[in-house]
Amino acid sequence: MKSVEGYSSTALLCIQTGRAHALLTGRGATGIEAALRAKGLVDARVGIPANTCYIVLWAILRSGNQPVLLDVHPNTGMLTIESINQPLDALIPCHLYGLPAPMRAISEWAHANGVFLIEDAALAIGATVDGRAAGSWGDVSIFSFGQGKIIDQQLGGAVLTDDAALAEGMTRWLAGLPEWDDRHVDLTNQWLALYWALHQYDDRDARLSGFYPALFDLYGDLVSFRLPPDDSPGLPEKLKAIEADRRRRLALAAHYDEALALETFPRPPGATLWAYPLLVNPDIRDDLLHHLWDAGVHEAARWYPSLQPMQVALCPGFPINPTPVADLLASQVITLPLQPGVAAEQVNRIAVAIRNFFS
Ligand SMILES: Cc1ncc(COP(=O)(O)O)c(C=O)c1O
Repeated sequence: MKSVEGYSSTALLCIQTGRAHALLTGRGATGIEAALRAKGLVDARVGIPANTCYIVLWAILRSGNQPVLLDVHPNTGMLTIESINQPLDALIPCHLYGLPAPMRAISEWAHANGVFLIEDAALAIGATVDGRAAGSWGDVSIFSFGQGKIIDQQLGGAVLTDDAALAEGMTRWLAGLPEWDDRHVDLTNQWLALYWALHQYDDRDARLSGFYPALFDLYGDLVSFRLPPDDSPGLPEKLKAIEADRRRRLALAAHYDEALALETFPRPPGATLWAYPLLVNPDIRDDLLHHLWDAGVHEAARWYPSLQPMQVALCPGFPINPTPVADLLASQVITLPLQPGVAAEQVNRIAVAIRNFFS
């Protein structure tokens, strides 16, 4: 087992979050499916913000449950207890872009209403939320170590809990998954090529979303798999360096703030930041994005899109819960890079490209 000063990755995750149990998973979404299955939920209503990753929606569907899209707060882009206007069996709040969701209020609400809570900390490793580590909230929490994430192992994730029975149930279910192999690599390459083309236009015409059911059939297996044992080289070292990485990200974000002076989400104390979310007028968002790509800023992305078109296509017959705020924010956002290797000069170069666009 690889270690830093004798600690394995799972031991470090437990130390850093205060959790009793941490399990490594094929990816973050595998942890979400594992949690829903270990809890024994079937046909349950699982609330998620409408502006989260499609793979969360897929994990819920794969577990045999019903995703319910929820709206978010206009200033933070995050779920609040006021925006949960539905009876639910489970809830998966997300620390969007690594910014802390209001977990104390959400946890109290979930506890009072008997709602199973999965904290989606895929993008928030290293953050603190209401003074406690991201990943320490909820009945279960997940991290992602996938490609482009704050800790980038190309693939991988973790699921954490304090509940011994849930930990045992998840361990058993995870052990029965197929191991990642060449078939998964091939499927991933196909899916990413198709999805990135489709998601740019799926809100323009409902017929485009008509492809999603076939694509979910073809690529749904990408939600849940197992990595070969000991396939997390360097993870303990990256976990140890997480606070330095958080500070580097925040310093660069402050640089973006200063150089751009444009709208972004507030960064509460304890935040980390996966990528810098820039909010612009929806009428010019795509033109600005193309301008950035032409200027060589290929990491700039239209992310996260609203999940409404995909949900409607994948869940025919489910009631549609309107999410106007999440849809609007999704049409305004461009994410700018903060990953390791990005330095102040690159932020300046991107800021110049953006200023050129506006002038
Ligand atoms: C907000 C959010 N939640 C969950 C996940 C799932 O992580 P993974 O890709 O490791 O399954 C992702 C990443 O894609 C994400 O962005």
